[in-house]
Amino acid sequence: MLPPSCNRLVGLGIATFTLIVLIFIALHQGGGSIQQIKEAAKNAASSAASSAQTHLTTKPTSFGDQISQLYQSIKHPVDSYHYVDPSGMEFKVTANPSWKEPLGNDVLIVDMDTRWPDGDNEVFGKTKLNWENVTGNEGGSMLTASVLNHFMYAQIHGYDYKFYRAEPMEGLHNTWIKPYVLSEFLQSYRFVVFIDADATIQHLDVPLEWLFNKWGITHRTSVAMPIDTRQILNGDENASCDSKGKVTLNTGFVIAQKLPLTLKMMKAWKDCPTEKKYKGCANWKENWSHEQRAFSEYIRYDFNPDGDNIIEIPCDDAMGYPGLAKNHPHILSDCKGRFVRHHTIDKSMTKTSTSDALLNSLTDIMQKSLMRNKLKYWVSEVERPKEFLEKFKEAEDKREGEE
Ligand SMILES: *[C@@H]1O[C@H](CO)[C@@H](O)[C@H](O)[C@H]1NC(C)=O
Ligand SMILES: *[C@@H]1O[C@H](CO)[C@@H](O)[C@H](O)[C@H]1NC(C)=O
Ligand SMILES: *[C@@H]1O[C@H](CO)[C@@H](O)[C@H](O)[C@H]1NC(C)=O
Repeated sequence: MLPPSCNRLVGLGIATFTLIVLIFIALHQGGGSIQQIKEAAKNAASSAASSAQTHLTTKPTSFGDQISQLYQSIKHPVDSYHYVDPSGMEFKVTANPSWKEPLGNDVLIVDMDTRWPDGDNEVFGKTKLNWENVTGNEGGSMLTASVLNHFMYAQIHGYDYKFYRAEPMEGLHNTWIKPYVLSEFLQSYRFVVFIDADATIQHLDVPLEWLFNKWGITHRTSVAMPIDTRQILNGDENASCDSKGKVTLNTGFVIAQKLPLTLKMMKAWKDCPTEKKYKGCANWKENWSHEQRAFSEYIRYDFNPDGDNIIEIPCDDAMGYPGLAKNHPHILSDCKGRFVRHHTIDKSMTKTSTSDALLNSLTDIMQKSLMRNKLKYWVSEVERPKEFLEKFKEAEDKREGEE
């Protein structure tokens, strides 16, 4: 549904005013019959409707267009060979970029969940959000933070966004909805990107297409997922490995491209627990790590004929977050979520990461605007010493070179 535009509101306002005036005149003329009043009301209403109609034909700028415009100055080029994050860390694209143009709404970012984030102070709730009181705690509050992060990211880069509220499935752990929902949306999108409710995109300026290039996702890649963090569970140092000793892939972040192989892969994944093809798969119906283990144990070995049909994203890029291993010694891989933070343990950090990502991008935009118009905003009684200006110029040149 379209939100009422200002023009429509003004139109309705004028019509209402006209109606009141007409009723007033009719009543004061004394001779005003009910029929006349009704007639006047009908005319006013139809003129309001037609004015609303006229304004609807001139398409209002969408929220997505406005956000995309706002971020124009910092959006990282899709085909660039490197990126420097706000901490100064540099990342390189080593292979020839497969993706040179933005994919726009060929990409869907989907949140899927069996929970309902529509309670008080939750993103789809009736009351106005009070961000200060969003805790980010597991459940609706965590979803509130991550949905806002994923939605905003989609607006910036022109991707479609959906929140899919799924019904739990009988006899299967809730996370088994993933292959089902991914398959469903692959009918209508070239790329479907799923991000877990405890995961956030950390650099809103970096488009997915650039990350595809960094990770070596090509035109024939069906699925990409990050390599899981290794961890010790109940004394088992190989708890994150499949039975062949290979670390599992984590389904907290899934990129799927619509290709015949992908659809076959999704079907095999969904059917896995029936054990028609994969003996032993029923074990993962409700046992950890569910659909994730099923994918890593069976599917990934059968659907990667060219070696890049399934891409394993480095753990450090899309798993973990700063402080994970330090605060949780049972975690053996200190993955820092350089691009996608996955707060598997400290769920409430989803809120802080959402704020940081948003503010980092907005402050970048504002700083750029302040600096570009420094003559207008900056007043100083004295000149900066020469050596400062030289150093400053050097840093500025370096920054320009990065873009
Ligand atoms: C927000 O949190 C503060 C501090 O915990 C609390 O005093 C206040 O009542 C909360 N407000 C709402 C609307 O929940
Ligand atoms: C874990 O896996 C490694 C490599 O496969 C193996 O050497 C080691 O013995 C395993 N540890 C346990 C406790 O099974
Ligand atoms: C889940 O794991 C337990 C312990 O390993 C096992 O006894 C049980 O049979 C498994 N569940 C299914 C459905 O196979």
